[in-house]
Amino acid sequence: MEIIIGSTAEELAAIAAAAIVRQVDRNPKIVLGLATGSTPRPLYAELARAAAAGTDFRQVQGFALDEYVGIAKDHPESYASVIQREVVLPLSMVRERVHVPDGRAFDLAFAGPQYDADIQAAGGIDIQILGIGRNGHIGFNEPGSSLSSRTRVKTLTNDTRVANARFFASVDEVPTHCLTQGLGTIMDARRVFLFAFGEAKAEAIANALEGPLSASCPGSVLQLHPHATIFVDEQAAAGLTHAEYYRYAYAHKPDWQEL
Ligand code: F6R
Repeated sequence: MEIIIGSTAEELAAIAAAAIVRQVDRNPKIVLGLATGSTPRPLYAELARAAAAGTDFRQVQGFALDEYVGIAKDHPESYASVIQREVVLPLSMVRERVHVPDGRAFDLAFAGPQYDADIQAAGGIDIQILGIGRNGHIGFNEPGSSLSSRTRVKTLTNDTRVANARFFASVDEVPTHCLTQGLGTIMDARRVFLFAFGEAKAEAIANALEGPLSASCPGSVLQLHPHATIFVDEQAAAGLTHAEYYRYAYAHKPDWQEL
């Protein structure tokens, strides 16, 4: 894992966006895995600036990480709506090329494997963008998730529903279930960019990056990923034992080794 500690979310988003733009310039048909929530917003804002400056995202494909079960697609807080509002429109992507799991599928048991098959048919995810929950979840793979799980229905923890209540009128309106890419699905991505900002994420980041590999902290599965880059601000990095080494390694990154 490469761990980049920055002073602000904006600074880190600019570094990550530059790397993504470089890849899009090389391969305009790149496949991006798209997280929702507050964390990736600075990154999407940087990518929107790049789009305004001429980077062409029209051939890029996108696969959202997850969707609530039972919520109408046009509900303002469905991840289909959020991805449309925060990613597709600002980056001038083509709506048909951006996929979100169908949380209203008639056959939810089939919708997960179908989503994994769609990702495979697109050639697999080149860069998966991730946030992390306070309980260590990535996607909505809550603690206890199989480290090799595939896209499927999961029950949200109370902690996750409380954390996401800020997007709804009350916690009672937050759906209880979701369709989420599995940890095995996420691990299939060629590259992973995980972002975490603020002290509320410090414990999850310490457990994910330096704790034991464990279903108790689903994000810890990234320790097995061959090409994961972690972008954390000082507050989210506060619990890391080896922070000084990560800073040193990034400062001494060989010139030929691009992000
Ligand atoms: C979002 C997702 C979640 C969030 C996580 C952090 O698609 O799958 O794992 O990344 O809950 O959420 P924020 O960024 O709102 O703190």
